[in-house]
Amino acid sequence: MTASFSEHGDIAVITLDNPPVNGLGFATRSGIVDGVQRALDHPAIRAIVLIGSGKGFSGGADIREFNTPKALQEPSLHTVIRTIESCGKPVIAAIHGMAMGGGLELALGCHYRVATPAAQIALPEVKLGILPGAGGTQRLPRMIGVQRALNMIVHGAPVPSEQLADTHLFDRMITGDLLEGAMAFAHEIADVRPLPKVRDHQIQDTDATQVLQAMREQIKAQAQHYPAPTKCIDAVEAAINLPFEDGLSFERELFLQLVQTTESKALRHSFFAERSAVKIPGIGPDTTLREIRAAAVIGAGTMGAGIAMNFANAGIPVCVLETAQAALDKGLGTIRRNYENTLKKGRLTQEQLDKRMGLISTTLEYEALSSADIVIEAVFEEISVKETVFRRLDQVMKPGAILASNTSTLDLDRIASFTSRPQDVIGMHFFSPANVMKLLEVVRGKATADDVLATVMALAKKIKKTGVVSGVCDGFIGNRMIEQYLRQAFYLLEEGCLPAQIDQAIENFGFAMGPFRMSDLAGNDIGWHIRQRRRVERPDMVYSQIGDKLCERGRFGQKTSAGWYDYHPGDRTAHASDEVNQMIIAHAAELGVARRAIGDDEIVERLIYALANEGARILEEGIALRASDIDLVYLTGYGFPLYRGGPMFYASCVGLDKVSAAVQRYASGPNGHAWHVAPFLQKLTDEGKSF
Ligand code: 3HC
Ligand code: NAI
Repeated sequence: MTASFSEHGDIAVITLDNPPVNGLGFATRSGIVDGVQRALDHPAIRAIVLIGSGKGFSGGADIREFNTPKALQEPSLHTVIRTIESCGKPVIAAIHGMAMGGGLELALGCHYRVATPAAQIALPEVKLGILPGAGGTQRLPRMIGVQRALNMIVHGAPVPSEQLADTHLFDRMITGDLLEGAMAFAHEIADVRPLPKVRDHQIQDTDATQVLQAMREQIKAQAQHYPAPTKCIDAVEAAINLPFEDGLSFERELFLQLVQTTESKALRHSFFAERSAVKIPGIGPDTTLREIRAAAVIGAGTMGAGIAMNFANAGIPVCVLETAQAALDKGLGTIRRNYENTLKKGRLTQEQLDKRMGLISTTLEYEALSSADIVIEAVFEEISVKETVFRRLDQVMKPGAILASNTSTLDLDRIASFTSRPQDVIGMHFFSPANVMKLLEVVRGKATADDVLATVMALAKKIKKTGVVSGVCDGFIGNRMIEQYLRQAFYLLEEGCLPAQIDQAIENFGFAMGPFRMSDLAGNDIGWHIRQRRRVERPDMVYSQIGDKLCERGRFGQKTSAGWYDYHPGDRTAHASDEVNQMIIAHAAELGVARRAIGDDEIVERLIYALANEGARILEEGIALRASDIDLVYLTGYGFPLYRGGPMFYASCVGLDKVSAAVQRYASGPNGHAWHVAPFLQKLTDEGKSF
């Protein structure tokens, strides 16, 4: 049993006890029903308090049970709520920490609710691609009105309990000991009859129709890819228009439809991917972490400035080092401007801005960094510059300090070899803009100590990044894969496409940005330099020369107002470029390629399967710990559509047999030399497995 029963005089207390979040799995549900029955059987008991142990009341239904027989095994959550609602003795939900999803629905089935301030109240099901399936869409509008309920149900964001103190949701806010307060409340209402039931409340909002309509407008753009928000609105509409029981059945029907959708499966995959990524085999949760009280950053350029902001945002003092005062002034100016923009948007107060700027100091002297617990190097991407910096850091940093590099392409093990303490060296590969992008690839070198890795993963969470562990290889997980994707995009240009068609196909698939708009934003010269290096280092990696031809014309992207597209200065809108399109057609003619009409399906297949195929190699080599880590990299760093779950999940949904067959087909087509089925993909296919 994961719910316990105790008697306190004439009050029974049922305590949910299913760590970490009191998920309402089968055993917990059974425990609640048993507890209610015991309280009913005991004549001296006058009221029942339902409370959570640990960090909150309940995080909701047990997501791991979804699509398994246990989810529906009686007592279902519906049965539990019905049992409580029809119980002849008053049941009081006592809420602290969080009441989310099924947890809030359970509380809504109780006769009364009391809460501590700052408890997080939410119906976050929409974020998992479903809707509240245990009466939440029917009961919450009855307690807090249609507008507020709709906001909570359609967006899923938590609301602090005190913000709902003026609604019918809570009968009392309790500032002292919750259990004592709840029992005192129970004594006060023990004899009140009839017992109040949320279902008996009438929805009286006169503006409900307009509110529903406005919300439908608001989510129109998302609705194309996500069915859940629309169904949430439909369910709330049913709460307004149908008798309670009919509304409940309607909600149930929608829930059962949504839980089967690929979108919901993908969103749940992403939820668990995020939580798995922090688990590193062989490094237990009891690993002693190094303390990070002060940080340092080397280089105040594009990345250094953004990295420093992450520390200031998390309240950690950070000192930035440069080679010249002018570079420091420039970097600090960028940081201030970024904060001021956030202030203008109303997402930061002047006080917060001052505090954050106050946490950032600057220096030209390495000695000033000696007491920092971690230093992150973000200087030019040249091994000789990295060598100078790391040799110097090795001299000045205190013993035990973590020495991190933000390199995106250089060999971390080589960088570590410039120091006498390779065990303290690690990669922290931020993505640009570093103060905005969620992804942080945490690169584990050959010698990186376990506690260094664990500390940096914990630090990632503290600075609100999604840390994903990667081994050392050229490009790590994300950029190594994107290279294969871009390679295909370039070949498609030779074979018959133009940039806008490819971008459109990939954006219709759901990416935030197609490959050519993305390259124009990042700078086409970056890839150009990488390809030049590859010609020497990896002659097997042959590329279309189309990207080089573009750069030879100085078309580096938005920064030169010309890339794969034309741009007007100061405007990021991409306009198809006649010059580039002519260049592509002429290039194909030079190669003697007969350009053909290529469908969007082929574009999507070639780009996405190129990702998954390289992902399979990365898995086989142990560069990524698990397929879901690769998905997380793409979901948080590359704009891969959340509702498709990432390249590996997507490939598994398509079926690895189909993916392998397509790769083989492309291998015998034009530019087939760029395709080889990854041995691990082939192995899984042969075994009938998925990633
Ligand atoms: N079911 C199963 N496991 C859950 C869970 C849930 N509802 N919520 C959290 N967990 C697990 C996590 O997977 C993680 O497990 P792990 O330690 O093995 O990796 C552990 O609980 C801790 O989770 P977090 O790291 O996220 O802990 P935090 O303290 O940071 O956050 C939380 C706690 C705010 C509750 C957060 O976990 C969360 O948002 N959970 C999801 C809540 C949710 O979506 N509830 C709705 C569920 S669907 C539902 O109720 C359907 C109903 O309408 C019928
Ligand atoms: P940048 O050119 O904008 O900034 C580099 C800064 O380092 C400059 O301000 C320069 O003055 C300073 N610098 C150079 N040598 C120095 C030294 N010896 N000591 C102290 N400061 C020195 O470069 P950017 O883009 O910020 O890149 C920095 C690092 O981050 C590189 O390793 C790059 O590969 C990596 N990176 C870059 C990304 C990007 O999108 N720009 C993304 C992820 C990683």
